Amino acid sequence: MLILGIESSCDETAASVVEDGRHVRSSVVASQHEIHEAFGGVVPELASRAHAERITGVVQQAIKDAGCEFSDLEAIAVGHRPGLIGALLVGVSAAKSLSWSLGVPLVGVDHVRAHLWAGLLNTDVGIDGIFPALGLVISGGHSTIFECDSPTEIRKLGGTIDDAVGEAYDKAAAILGLGHPGGPVVDKLASDGASDDRAVDLPVSRLGRESLDFSFSGLKTALLYEVRGVPGPGGVFPKDNTELTVGRKRDLCASFQRAASRAIVLKLERALDAMGNKPKSLIIGGGVSANSRIRRDITELAQSKSLQLVLPEMRFCVDNAAMIAGLGYHTLQTIGPDDLLLRAAPGMS
Ligand code: KG4
Ligand code: ZN
Repeated sequence: MLILGIESSCDETAASVVEDGRHVRSSVVASQHEIHEAFGGVVPELASRAHAERITGVVQQAIKDAGCEFSDLEAIAVGHRPGLIGALLVGVSAAKSLSWSLGVPLVGVDHVRAHLWAGLLNTDVGIDGIFPALGLVISGGHSTIFECDSPTEIRKLGGTIDDAVGEAYDKAAAILGLGHPGGPVVDKLASDGASDDRAVDLPVSRLGRESLDFSFSGLKTALLYEVRGVPGPGGVFPKDNTELTVGRKRDLCASFQRAASRAIVLKLERALDAMGNKPKSLIIGGGVSANSRIRRDITELAQSKSLQLVLPEMRFCVDNAAMIAGLGYHTLQTIGPDDLLLRAAPGMS
């Protein structure tokens, strides 16, 4: 079954054709990074406008790359929550128009759950073999741990109480005077063979003894103070970041990454205990699952606990529409389609 997926929840306009939920025939992602870079974060109104300008071309390109025609599509899946409401509305409207005009079913997909499907794309991993699972979505908007009974039956065990981990990476990059989005730049500098991840002892947040929540703002502030000193009266910082050498930036990035990754692994270990070690697998997704250090540490954790690890290919970690089409296929098979009244919604289901 050929499904067209559409994604527009934040700052990526994406479309993809996926066969039977797994085989990715095309995946087109038009990122808006250049539009938002000057603002140091995503500006919702600019995001909506850019989606509206790009959506038609992106969908056409996905059909062309897949080597098919609109008439070959058998359903339209769309990320309809959570996200920026104006941005979501562009994708949802496009999906409804296509569903109505082609006479094929429409299915709404939760973006965060779709991140957990991303690791199944282009694989033949059997669904029955991986559930129950411990799920983790780490992205620019989420740091959330889930207990998963199936791809659509998931329960939140814990989430961030302040910054999402990707947001903390982006702010760390800003503190160090690097570009936006910051995650890939911090990762690249930290991965330099000469970097020392113990150069600075940055805090690993634990919260309460049994807490499965995350907090990354303390880590971000500790990095800020390390770079600019502790602010004096009136909140004035004694230093700016212009004196940082490349070597120092590398070490700070590596130390930041070590602390971020340790916090994530710690909470996954706690969650496994809380679930009575019932999970058969660890399913990871979201933009930050592209991080080399986090991928390495989570792989070690999965091995030590004899858990199957479901980790996306690099291109399916960040926002994309293939994961939407993939989970859309599964949703159609197990739950069924939505009607044309499908609503865009800013929060998770
Ligand atoms: O999943 P995603 O594309 O969007 C959301 O749903 O939020 O994630 C984007 C986030 C950004 O914060 C970006 O800095 C981060 O993923 N990211 C990374 C890496 N690649 C992307 N963070 C750390 N290391 C990376 N290699
Ligand atoms: Zn995302």
